Amino acid sequence: MKLRLILLALASSTGLISALALPPPSNDPKFRAWLETRRRKQKDPGMPKYFHEPGGSELGNHYDSRFYSGIDTYENKRDTQLHMLRAYFTFFSEASMETWLAHGTLLGWWWNGKMLPWDWDIDTQVSGSTLAYMAEHHNGTIYNYTATDDPDVKRSYLLDVNPASYERERGNGNNIIDARWIDIRNGLYIDITGLSETHPDDRPGVWSCKNYHRYHTTDLYPMRESMYEGVVAKVPYAYDRILTQEYHEKALVVTDYEGHAYPFGFRKPSANYLYSHRWNPEVKEWIKKSDEEIAEEKEEKEAKKKAENEEKERVEAEKKKQEEEGKEEEPKDEGKKEKRSLPEEKRYVELEKETSGLAHLRRKRDMF
Ligand SMILES: *[C@@H]1O[C@H](CO)[C@@H](O)[C@H](O)[C@H]1NC(C)=O
Ligand SMILES: *[C@@H]1O[C@H](CO)[C@@H](O)[C@H](O)[C@H]1NC(C)=O
Repeated sequence: MKLRLILLALASSTGLISALALPPPSNDPKFRAWLETRRRKQKDPGMPKYFHEPGGSELGNHYDSRFYSGIDTYENKRDTQLHMLRAYFTFFSEASMETWLAHGTLLGWWWNGKMLPWDWDIDTQVSGSTLAYMAEHHNGTIYNYTATDDPDVKRSYLLDVNPASYERERGNGNNIIDARWIDIRNGLYIDITGLSETHPDDRPGVWSCKNYHRYHTTDLYPMRESMYEGVVAKVPYAYDRILTQEYHEKALVVTDYEGHAYPFGFRKPSANYLYSHRWNPEVKEWIKKSDEEIAEEKEEKEAKKKAENEEKERVEAEKKKQEEEGKEEEPKDEGKKEKRSLPEEKRYVELEKETSGLAHLRRKRDMF
């Protein structure tokens, strides 16, 4: 453990290069044996859920029940998350524990090194061995923080490690979040999950969290040191591959966000217009669309749909007309009909294909 600590300290002080030499030592037999004993101790077939959220709506799912006293305003939430992140990375660096950005938090980094303004979750990852170390040495830490740019901003955070985190398999699914960094004023938190090489013999070099996100060692390491919300933070080496696998390429290029992810917990897509954003390349920020813009977009969309429907009707009518013309000629020449109807049929199919192909391209163009 001591040696690892020194290595970790070295890794974090010299950044990228030494991180390369330090994939978590999950294959170290001593470490695995130790983890196995911890696991056995904690193993309980009906392991109850450790972290609780008030729930009720999507919004309520983002608070820890123990510290929850109501849903914050958007501004309070942003302020909470900003300082929570800064405190988190500062603490982890001070404690020489390696951690990095994951999921939507990583996607936000890709755009501008900040959180996506519509995202309620903050997700980070650690290696399984860091997780175990954290459980042993830092569980229950209350970290007092004063903002560097504003001495009036004083906060306290709780690092709480799930006792089920020793178990690296998903189990009953109650405990896929391994640890939390919680703002004890309001219960908003960062979700921390550990990645472990769960099948080192069958699948060496494949790291998995309890929610079955999988990563190759070479996708993760060597970690890149970067900035996030004004603080030094790490991102996995092949962040582009990780992001496209998880979110599809579109998430990295589409500059128009309509709120598909139901960020407000509404299941009606129309409600998501409330949360539409547009990427502004000049200022490198996602800008919330104004009500007028949203209304305009809605109008445009409806007009487009109408035009598409009209075109479809036109094609249908054309087809009908041609069929009728064909019928009229039918009695005149059986053989000729045979010859005529085939290419016409084919032409119609081609036309259908062409129009639907165009619609598809139009959609694509409008998306990008
Ligand atoms: C953190 O702050 C609380 C009060 O806000 C105080 O009781 C506690 O002692 C402080 N902890 C440390 C480690 O400074
Ligand atoms: C962390 O501390 C809490 C509170 O004392 C405890 O309930 C939990 O089991 C601890 N987690 C681990 C991994 O020991």
